[in-house]
Amino acid sequence: MERAEGSARAATPRRYLMCPPTHFDVTYSINPWMDPGRLTSTQVAVGQWKRVHDTFVGLGHDVRLIEPLPDLPDMVFAANGATVVDGKVLVARFRHPQRADEAAAYLEWFRRDGRFEVGQAEYINEGEGDFLYVGGEILAGSGFRSDLRAHDEMREFFGRPVVSLTLVDPRWYHLDTALAVLDEGEVMYYPAAFSTESQGILAERFPDAILAEEADAAVFGLNALSDGLNVTLPEQAVGLAARLRERGYTPVGADLTELLKAGGSVKCCTLELRG
Ligand code: ARG
Repeated sequence: MERAEGSARAATPRRYLMCPPTHFDVTYSINPWMDPGRLTSTQVAVGQWKRVHDTFVGLGHDVRLIEPLPDLPDMVFAANGATVVDGKVLVARFRHPQRADEAAAYLEWFRRDGRFEVGQAEYINEGEGDFLYVGGEILAGSGFRSDLRAHDEMREFFGRPVVSLTLVDPRWYHLDTALAVLDEGEVMYYPAAFSTESQGILAERFPDAILAEEADAAVFGLNALSDGLNVTLPEQAVGLAARLRERGYTPVGADLTELLKAGGSVKCCTLELRG
């Protein structure tokens, strides 16, 4: 365990699943960030992704890999493949046909691994893109991708409380683009991405949350991954990095501008394997 000077923050080693962007491209548009007419470089994406991968390894985390498949250019966004809590896995069901086949690949990975109890989502469920575990509960997003009925399915499958939140701005179409879990009971989020009612729920549950400004949210600063101390986030999110430092966290800057052309960043690339 590492401790930041003058704070009680501590990193705990995590296990992550990632998918190299070997076949990354923007060939279709399923969110406002994706413009197939814009030039993308798979090579740049691979280099940027590798540095984030190596950052996690350097922080002492155990990073597993899933084999990227051709014709699935968004497969690099491993967070969407499943939700894993208490050694149980609910494999995703994607909203868009362009990503539908990723579910089978994740299902196979988990079955082959053999250490998890594996289920398959019946309703549209984009995994950790929309379901974030925090302090024993699951925050659940809907509005653009995951079906509201998937929230009930999650509650039943994991036997954990599920708190439904509604996303209202298409730029922040997955919960993990608008909210990041920092520690047990601690989050940061961009209020305007949520309905008024959901903003109320968040304010009540997390009165001390870091609230992001639009500029940081727009560079996907909330698509961040915390190990309790180190928070890896897009390096362009300088406002959030300063706020994190004030709270005793260590911001770790990442450059994933190539993947942002597909509407994803640090957290999207990482599925946490819990238990
Ligand atoms: N292009 C992908 C999509 O629209 C990006 C997914 C980002 N993943 C995430 N966890 N937010 O589905």
